[in-house]
Amino acid sequence: MTDHARHLDTHYDAPAERDGQSLAARLQEAFREAGCDPDRLTLDEIAGIDQLHLGGRRASRSLATLGSFASGSRVLDVGCGTGGASRLLAAEFGAEVTGLDITAAFVEVASWLSRATGLDDRTHFLCADASHAPLADGTFDVVWCQHALMNMPDIAAVLAEWHRLLVPGGTVLLHEVVAGDDPSPLRLPVPWARRVETSHLRSRHALEVLLAEGGFAPVAVQDVTEVALAWRRKHSRREGGDVAPTGPALPGPGLIFGEAFAEMGRNLRDNLSADRVRILEGVWRRA
Ligand SMILES: C[S@@+](CC[C@H](N)C(=O)[O-])C[C@H]1O[C@@H](n2cnc3c(N)ncnc32)[C@H](O)[C@@H]1O
Repeated sequence: MTDHARHLDTHYDAPAERDGQSLAARLQEAFREAGCDPDRLTLDEIAGIDQLHLGGRRASRSLATLGSFASGSRVLDVGCGTGGASRLLAAEFGAEVTGLDITAAFVEVASWLSRATGLDDRTHFLCADASHAPLADGTFDVVWCQHALMNMPDIAAVLAEWHRLLVPGGTVLLHEVVAGDDPSPLRLPVPWARRVETSHLRSRHALEVLLAEGGFAPVAVQDVTEVALAWRRKHSRREGGDVAPTGPALPGPGLIFGEAFAEMGRNLRDNLSADRVRILEGVWRRA
């Protein structure tokens, strides 16, 4: 395992290091406690643990609509996490999805959740580094990536893989965190990093230059910071206990990130409102 993979494993699966229980086992136990059968779950029941990006399912639908890809499209979900977007694209947009993630615990959870929701025929997951994907050339129509590039130190290598894996004319759909105009230090921890050395944010301009150099032309790109900030504010109020919970206590992201999650959410909210970070959504086409 590389240092990068080891670091992400300990970042995204911190409670397992401490408790010795796997993420999948911890989440399955939590579903049982909430009165659910962990082998038969709905997409609504798992939404709290399979959307590890700002805006939840609404943000993924917005990006898929912007990208307007055809039913039956072969999609590579890069940095798929626990596989929420992969399942949404399969269930609502008719896609055939391969999810790829470097964090083994997430890949295990993604595979279980697809089986439990009956979507394992249209979503498959593999554990690999996005800069060395063990997949054949030209096998995807769409590369999808939500909130993952800020974890990756070598974007040029990742973009070279996307160019290799996409068919000519294929599209890249991104929903990403980028650096804002305020150069003051990021308030940490945030959901993707506990230390500044492990946060690989680039400005929108720097990312656009890298994409152009990688052979991708912009089709539609927009700043969606305000929508993301409104969503984050609402969730921080909830996580802070300011809003009375409605319905049963289904597993949420705190079970993945541990007790630091509420602080990570508040810091992300403050970084967004101070313009230390911004959120970008867009579509690019492979030349
Ligand atoms: C904030 S999570 C987002 C997960 C998912 N895209 C979502 O929105 O729910 C970032 C993900 O990127 C993955 N990741 C980071 N670097 C990676 C790499 N080099 N190759 C593959 N996955 C990577 C992490 O393991 C993590 O699952």
